[in-house]
Amino acid sequence: MKLFEKLVSINNEKLVSFHVPGHKQTSLYNEYLDKVNTILDIDTTEIPGTDDLHDPLTCIKTSQDALSKLYKTKESFFLTGGTTCGIYAMIMAVTSPGDTILVARDCHRAVYDGMFLGRLNGIYISPDFYKGIPIGITKENVLKAIKENPQAKALVLTYPNYYGIGTDLKAIEQIVHANNMLLLVDEAHGAHLNLSNELMLSAVDLGADVVVHSSHKSLPSMTQSSVLHLNSDRVNERKLKQMLKLHQSSSPSYVLMSSLDICYDIVAKQGEFLMKKLLGNIKKIRYKYPVFLEQVDLPDGFKLDPTKLTITGNKSGWNPVDIENQLRKNGIQIEFSNENNCVFVSSIMNETGDFEYLSKMMEMLKFKCYSGIDNMEKSFLSKNIMSLSEAYYSSKKMMKLKDAENCISTEYIVPYPPGIPMIIPGELIEEDKLELINRMLDKNQKIVGIDNFEDATIEVVSNEEA
Ligand SMILES: Cc1ncc(COP(=O)(O)O)c(C=O)c1O
Repeated sequence: MKLFEKLVSINNEKLVSFHVPGHKQTSLYNEYLDKVNTILDIDTTEIPGTDDLHDPLTCIKTSQDALSKLYKTKESFFLTGGTTCGIYAMIMAVTSPGDTILVARDCHRAVYDGMFLGRLNGIYISPDFYKGIPIGITKENVLKAIKENPQAKALVLTYPNYYGIGTDLKAIEQIVHANNMLLLVDEAHGAHLNLSNELMLSAVDLGADVVVHSSHKSLPSMTQSSVLHLNSDRVNERKLKQMLKLHQSSSPSYVLMSSLDICYDIVAKQGEFLMKKLLGNIKKIRYKYPVFLEQVDLPDGFKLDPTKLTITGNKSGWNPVDIENQLRKNGIQIEFSNENNCVFVSSIMNETGDFEYLSKMMEMLKFKCYSGIDNMEKSFLSKNIMSLSEAYYSSKKMMKLKDAENCISTEYIVPYPPGIPMIIPGELIEEDKLELINRMLDKNQKIVGIDNFEDATIEVVSNEEA
């Protein structure tokens, strides 16, 4: 079956969505689309009256200004290339080739690609872990990295992460700014944080310099539509705008831009009300089924966004992959599962009925005690031998992955989701990583580009062995 036909058939299953995108195909969103006959009616280009994303003066400017006012930023920008292009732009806006930046090693692949594009040297800061889940970097480790690398221009980190876990960002903001560096935050999973004071404060409110939101993940916009918030005077605005031009299409989609407009209209008019309803539903399901990761489980200093429902294997009674499979058989699609945990992503567009149905299915499937497999943390700790661009442009050779121990990778190895690379170009392929990859494939964890361990190949640096 080809793509469109497949999407139509999946849509006909009418799955209850606990995955992204955050619009959940709901009627509230469609009320706006009822004003046109088909989506093609608003798929236009730069003609008189439609403004220009790269030099907004009229309607796009009005929409972006409204967004900026809503989030209380210096300026806000629509992105039609996802958070990925916003990450590239923010990193390259504050650096020049050859600069060093500090990077939390649990960042999404887009951050490392941004470093490659900007020809930067990265100093990686290892995250802390809870039951195999990376929970973010600590202020102590940030301070240590800054002391050792005072020349670094900026720190890039993810907050909150894929599981809704956020580090002590206020403390980190103070340390970073006290040392004259910039704080760039990938808040892909936190576009909704300002909708309730029961949620952790957003990076915008905590004083980060630039923040990127995947509006399509936790708010109701269409996939690939995101926003970038410029939040301080420390960043050269002109350079940021140049970088946005560089990384965005010269034909940005008006459908995606409209979807951002609709999304933030819903947020402005009903966001707080809808969030209150969502948090009520979340409290009920958490109370009835105490299998989800809770704030009390996390070490001091880390906060949990309750709208992300994570089950770690040993709390639930099921292998998390089986949870995903069983729920899908019963009409519910969750965001992600692997041998260690599974994640349900809710949004303000989830109806109360979605939670009632989930509750009924959990009752039916009777989650009980499963031992779980932890210790995934090895997946983040590799020796960095050279910069990404040095690795990309070095002479290379192809090898069987299973024989590549102690070689320097020129490729990524990325379990997806969540998109955090186990190995990035320039890093050493260590024995424990190979073991882990093998084990993950055995458990059917999807690793981009690798189907089976025995046959998989990888490109490595040919003239150096570490
Ligand atoms: C933490 C994080 N950052 C960035 C991205 C990339 O965002 P986008 O898909 O909007 O380009 C993702 C996507 O999954 C992500 O999880």
